[in-house]
Formats: sequence, structure tokens, C-alpha cells
Amino acid sequence: MNVLFISSEVAPFSKTGGLGDVAGALPAALASLGHDVKVITPRYRDLRGAERLQPTGQSLLLRFPFGELSGPILAARVSERLEVLFLENAFLFGNRHGLYGDAGGAFADNHRRFAYLSVGALQAAQRLRFIPDIIHANDWQTGLVPVALRRGFQTGPLAHAKSVFTIHNLAYQGQFPKDVMGELALPWDLFTAHDGLEFHDAVNFLKAGLVFSDALTTVSPTYAREIQTPEQGYGLDGLLRHRAHRLHGILNGVDTHEWNPEDDAFLPARYGLKDLAGKAVCKRELLARFGLEDSPAPVFGFVSRLAWQKGMDLLLEALPAALHADLRVVGVGSGEGPLEEGLLALQARYPKQVGVHLGFDPALSHLVEAGADFFLMPSRYEPCGLNQMYSLRYGTVPIVRATGGLVDTVEGGLDGNGILFEAFHKSALLAAIRRALALYADPSRLDEFRRRGMEKDFSWGASGRRYEALFHDLMAE
Ligand code: ADP
Ligand code: GLC
Repeated sequence: MNVLFISSEVAPFSKTGGLGDVAGALPAALASLGHDVKVITPRYRDLRGAERLQPTGQSLLLRFPFGELSGPILAARVSERLEVLFLENAFLFGNRHGLYGDAGGAFADNHRRFAYLSVGALQAAQRLRFIPDIIHANDWQTGLVPVALRRGFQTGPLAHAKSVFTIHNLAYQGQFPKDVMGELALPWDLFTAHDGLEFHDAVNFLKAGLVFSDALTTVSPTYAREIQTPEQGYGLDGLLRHRAHRLHGILNGVDTHEWNPEDDAFLPARYGLKDLAGKAVCKRELLARFGLEDSPAPVFGFVSRLAWQKGMDLLLEALPAALHADLRVVGVGSGEGPLEEGLLALQARYPKQVGVHLGFDPALSHLVEAGADFFLMPSRYEPCGLNQMYSLRYGTVPIVRATGGLVDTVEGGLDGNGILFEAFHKSALLAAIRRALALYADPSRLDEFRRRGMEKDFSWGASGRRYEALFHDLMAE
């Protein structure tokens, strides 16, 4: 089958979080199952691997009431059946750093930028004569895709395509004032609360995707259930319950080429299930990189967007008590100012035990996964989470809050592979850290935990086949 996959970020070209990882790996998994896949994404100014881009000779022209938007379509071939297409536009993407915003907040023209991506993706498929069976959109940035498919592309070559919309994070909805309806020439009859784009008198791009797609998916079975509750539904739980028969929870996988401790170019030494010796070399290097003295004490690592979702405030609250014990904490993250400042203050207060690197640093994130003994993810909510799976693969025991995809991937208990805690509370996190210290004090048990984690298969194979089965079902409807 032909699959058109649309995402606002695609690793390795662009990435702010797990969406980029998934958009890099899932299309590759589908291509390896024999499908022809085209991924469509913006041509941001700062793109890794930009030298790989080639002109396709085709370009877009979209007419909006405020004027015309146009730009060339570029392409990078990844494999025989997989190509990534980039939509270039000097005014929307080419003129700034950052994907969604900068220090001043979200970009004011995000509605135009991602309308261009969503409508432009469909026009690009037509221009390149790629007739998709399935159009797979992801998160609010592509919420207008299924709307455009029904209103604008319903008579052309895309008329028979089925649409799938994946929720990677329900909390980010892309809400804009209702004047955006006129600005983007969206028909006003779509501005209804019951079965349209309206949400509390504003336009909600995520809701557009949820209402108009043929099928919905989210990135873990537990999160699929959670988002149907008022506590985690962000106002959209009613709609999701209404569409529950169309909503599937499919767990993300790990890109096993990118994340493989036996063959990871970012590490000073490689290791695997048969021989874990290299992990100790990584730990020494990790401590050195954070300016900490070599020590046999356990190292707790984190790699995270610094956002409310991730519970880094809880970590900041709990760590001063935890640091009475002989342990080290190292991590890399970037995001909200108060959390960045909190981490720097913690490092200043415990310079011999805490190392923090603020920024987005993929190389360092690999070293943290490899060199740490434990990996901290105290998330308030977590649709899937990838880092805990990377940790398991790297023999680093994850300490996670029992929520969303973390429940579906980490096994607690005495013969598990990780440590789970329930309450979003300092005392629960501290108890989990104490359990980790007890495990660390028992090397043979720690070794068993590590091995059970490393033995797990989180590759995309199984999940890719689940998407494939869903696509087949849709095509048969
Ligand atoms: P989310 O998408 O909610 O941020 P995930 O666990 O699904 O969470 O994915 C996060 C991805 O982003 C992982 O690949 C992780 O390694 C990466 N990442 C997050 N923060 C950083 C950072 N500061 N530096 C490097 N990589 C990061
Ligand atoms: C989102 C979620 C994260 C998930 C990722 C990829 O960013 O926060 O839990 O792993 O998307 O699906």
C-alpha cells in the first residue's frame, strides 16, 4: 500500500521530542514491510542533514484570503521505499530558528505554518503523483489534514484515501482565536462544538483531527484508556469516548539502529547482554563529562524536556532529601525557565553530587542512557515515553511513575526490570529511590534486573505490523 505520513518533526532531520523519533522510525518499519511511504514535513531553517535534500522539480501554491503561499518541494531518499519530502517556504519556515517557538513563546503564525504543512502535504502528494491509500497525520500540527481531505480534496485522486490520526500528546491542542477560520478560509459550518473544530469559542486543530479522521490511534494502550477520563481528557474525553470504537492504543517502538549499546558511536565503549564491562567505562566517562569525581556510588540520570508533564518539579522537591545518601544525579534537559533555574540551583548546592547540562544534546543523551545506573522519569502523565525503553535496552534500570506508556513498558515487582511508583508525591518518589539504593546494594539482583530489561524486544517490528493491520482494515471498509 501507499502511505503518506505527515509530521511536524522527523528524526534525524528535526526533533524536539519523541514525535521526531517516531516519525523517523515508524515509516521505516512500514517501508521494510514492503509499503511505499512518503513522509512530509517542513523544511525548517535548522535541519540536520540538509545537504541530503534534492529538488523534486515540483512546488506548492496555496491560496488563502490573506495571500498566496508557495515554495518548492525537496526530497531526501532514505531507502528504496521511503522518501522524506520537505515543504519549503521562506516566510513560514526559512526565516527563523526553532520549530514551534522561541524565547518569546509560540510563533504567532503557527496556524498559518501548520495549515501550510497540512494542506500542502495533500497538494504535494498530488503534484508528485503519489496516490496514498492511507494518510497518516500526527498531533495538532497536522489536525487540518483530515479536514482538507474531506473539504477540498474529496473529488481528486486522493478521494479514496483513508485518514489516520495519531495522538502523541493530548495536552498540546493548537488552539487559535476563531478569526483563524476566516483567515484560513475554513468553512464556517465546521465551526461547531458538537462535530466540528470549535472548542470553547476557539478553533482547535487537534480536535479537527479527532473529529474528521477515519481512525484514531495513540501511542500506548494505557494512555488510550486514560484520555477517555475527565482527569486526563483535557476537555476532549467526551469526544474520545464517543469515538472509542475508532481509537486504538499502539505502543511505540525503539529505533534499534539509533539506540543500540553494542553499536553506539556516541559511547566511549560498547557493551551488550553477553558482556556488560563497557557500561562501567561509560559511567566513568559520564561522571567526567559532568565534572564529577569518579566514584562507585550509584548514578541516577535523566534526559527530558523540562515541562510540567515530565514531573521535574517533583524531582527538584525530592532530591535534597535523597542526596543525603551517597548517590549522584546527572541529566540533560531544556525547557521552562523555572525548572532550568531549579536544576542549576540544585547543582550549585550539591556540586559534588549533581551535574546538569541545559540544552538539547543527542550525543550526551546517549551517554546518560548508557552510563547511568538508574533512569528517572517521574512523569505526571506520559502518552508512551521512549527514554524508559532506551534505558531498558542500555541496562539502566528505569524509575518511573505508573502512568500511561510507562505502565505498559516497565515491569515492577521483585522480578521485574524497573521500579514504578504510583502517587505523584515526593514521598512516593523518595521511596522508589530507596528501593533503587537497596537494589544497587545487591549486585546480583541488580544484574538480573538489567538483563531482564536488555532482553526485552521493543523494536518497531510488532508495532509496525499493528499499524499495518489497522490500515488494511480501513482499506477494506
Ligand atoms: P517527549 O516526546 O514527551 O519529550 P519521549 O520520551 O517520547 O518524550 O521522547 C523524548 C525524546 O527526546 C527522546 O529521544 C529523548 O532522548 C529526547 N530528548 C529529550 N530531551 C532531550 C535533550 N535535552 N537532549 C537530547 N535529547 C533529548
Ligand atoms: C509525545 C509524548 C511521549 C511519546 C512521544 C512519541 O511527545 O509526550 O510520551 O513517547 O510523543 O509518541
